[in-house]
Amino acid sequence: MDLNVHTSVMEKVTSLAKRRGFIFQGSEIYGGYQGFWDYGPLGVELKNNVKKEWWKTMVYGREDVVGIDAAIIMNPVVWEKSGHLKAFSDPLVECKVCHRRVRADNDEAIKDHENSHPDEKDIWTDAKTFNLMTEVLLGTTEPKEKSYLRGEITQGAFVNFENVINSTRIKVPFGIGQIGKAFRNEITPGNLTFRSREFEQMELEYFVKPDDDASAKTFDEFKEVRINWYKNLGIDPEKLHFHDHEPEKRAHYAKYATDIEYKAPFGWSEMEGIHHRGDFDLKNHGLKYRDEMTNEEYIPWVIETSGGVDRATLFFLIDSYREEGERVFLKLHPSLAPYKAAVFPLLKNKPELVEKARNIYKNLKKEFNVVWDDRGNIGKRYFAQDEIGTPWCVTVDFESLEDDTVTVRDRDTAKQERVDIDRLQSYFSDRLK
Ligand code: GAP
Repeated sequence: MDLNVHTSVMEKVTSLAKRRGFIFQGSEIYGGYQGFWDYGPLGVELKNNVKKEWWKTMVYGREDVVGIDAAIIMNPVVWEKSGHLKAFSDPLVECKVCHRRVRADNDEAIKDHENSHPDEKDIWTDAKTFNLMTEVLLGTTEPKEKSYLRGEITQGAFVNFENVINSTRIKVPFGIGQIGKAFRNEITPGNLTFRSREFEQMELEYFVKPDDDASAKTFDEFKEVRINWYKNLGIDPEKLHFHDHEPEKRAHYAKYATDIEYKAPFGWSEMEGIHHRGDFDLKNHGLKYRDEMTNEEYIPWVIETSGGVDRATLFFLIDSYREEGERVFLKLHPSLAPYKAAVFPLLKNKPELVEKARNIYKNLKKEFNVVWDDRGNIGKRYFAQDEIGTPWCVTVDFESLEDDTVTVRDRDTAKQERVDIDRLQSYFSDRLK
């Protein structure tokens, strides 16, 4: 890997993300706060679109999946039963010289740190494990009650297993979809939002009858569903692959597991985990399923797809970054782009152009997130929209006053075509399908 080229892509995306309002350092005016990030006006749109697309495919797109939204703080017993208090930990090594702690499995961070003590040898202690759960104290009287911010959103689906069945009459096989925040006391957060302490997950817990062959088939089906989701939303297929977990690297709940990895500028990196959780969770929570038709009772097995919203958002940004001469553009899938179109009057000092363009803008805004821009010249406006990934720019010019058409300029090809004003809505909706 040519480190300079790749480092500079990461630097360019980081700088664009801040300059154009995608991602800001959390609490920046106080020097930031390690592992916490804020999404700006464009970032929140991109991230919401990622979540919308996930929900469209994984919940609305299926008859056998329902959604929930469970609380972030749960009864601490949940975390005892789920095994997180005991086993949700990372191995850490500590530098004997400066006492800095680094994940024992993070070769890059280990090498980096060794470079800061070039004259020392054997600087690391043996690895020790550190729990990743974030503690919170609840209540107003001492002693306060210790609880946790959830380390995975998953447990909310398990503890509501019976509620979901009883309220919907849904039958195995079925899934529970959920999107929400999770928190981990990460030791070495980094690479922008890639490893954060507060992040969002989008997960499906899919319950099947306990059966080796059938559950393996379901596992394989969901691998395909999930990798295709990234490909269909424009991620370069060459930069996606599966990475099966070795038994010793599997999470404590997993029978077997694979990651969808993306070839990031900092190397192949986990974007989503697909896990066969067996009956680990339902069994520990003392839950089972009764088939109403046959009266058969069993503990279903669980196939899980667990994606990171922030990692997906970051990789959509990185993967879409393009430079063509002077022009920088984000080749984001139109469904993900923060703005679907920008509307301009050719000249801002011609009231008849401005009025017509404002009407188009207001009408389109009822259906799509569109933006108004009348600053600078047309070329500058195109450049500014390219840089934030707006797929189409609509310009109202003098011809528009004569024949009720506008130019629509395509972000990726920079080609322009004339479109009837009253066809604009369907022009965009056809392309957003
Ligand atoms: N319920 C299973 C589970 O949580 P995981 O592999 O620990 O599995 C799933 O996490 C996904 O959550 C990861 O693939 C990643 O996208 C995201 N994720 C995990 N830790 C993260 C962190 N510290 N920062 C950002 N995203 C994270």
